[in-house]
Amino acid sequence: MTARIHPSVLSADFVNMEAALRTIVTADAVHVDVMDNHFVPNLTFGRQMVERIQAVSPIPLDVHLMIDDPDRWAPEYAATGAAGVTFHAEAATDAVELARELRARGAKAGVSLKPGTPIETIVDDLAEFDLVLIMTVEPGFGGQSFMPETMPKLQALAHIRERRGLAFDLQVDGGIAVDTIATAAAAGADVFVAGSAVFGGEDPAARISELRSLADA
Ligand code: DX5
Ligand code: ZN
Repeated sequence: MTARIHPSVLSADFVNMEAALRTIVTADAVHVDVMDNHFVPNLTFGRQMVERIQAVSPIPLDVHLMIDDPDRWAPEYAATGAAGVTFHAEAATDAVELARELRARGAKAGVSLKPGTPIETIVDDLAEFDLVLIMTVEPGFGGQSFMPETMPKLQALAHIRERRGLAFDLQVDGGIAVDTIATAAAAGADVFVAGSAVFGGEDPAARISELRSLADA
C-alpha cells in the first residue's frame, strides 16, 4: 500500500496558513494539531481556525486533538467537515462512545496513545476506530526526536490488525523525517505525520515525495 503523508501545519507559519496549504497540495491530508494548554503544555488554536483551514484547504483535514475532555469537544470538530478527528485515549472518558459519535457525524474516528500508554488501553475496542495514532514523541511540540522505543506498539497493532482482519489505519506522529520514516514503515505504520521535516525545508512538495518513497521502499 502506498504510504500516506500528512504534513503538520504546527510547523507552518500560522499567519500565512493559506499560502502554506498551497505548498502541500500533493500530500494526502493536512494534519491539524489542536492543543489546549491543559492536556499538553502548549496552545495552538480551536474550532474557528480549523473551520477556516477546512474552508481553504485543497486537501482533506486530519485533526489531532491534544485536549482535555474530548468527549465534549471532539464532535464539534467532526462538524467542521474534517475527514478525520483523532482524540487521546488518556483524555477520553468513553472512547468507544466518542468514536461512534464521530462516525455518526461523518468523520473517521481516530484514537491516539502517548508514548507511555500501552495498547491494552484500546486493544479490545479496535473495531470501533478508523485510525490508531501511535505518538512517536511526547505530544505538545514539533521538532522533537523520534522515539524508537514506541515501535513495539506499532508492530503489535499491525499484527493484531492482520490477525483479526481489521482495517484501521496506523498513524505515527513526531520526529518523522527522512532518517526515521523507514523504521516506522517497517514496524507497520501506513500514515505518516511530518511537521518540521516538510515545512522546515526549502521545498515541501519535494520532501513529501521523498518521504513517501522512503516509506514505500
Ligand atoms: C506534536 C504534534 C505533531 C507535530 C509533529 O505534539 O502532534 O503533529 O507537529 O512535528 P514534527 O514532525 O516536527 O515532530
Ligand atoms: Zn499531531
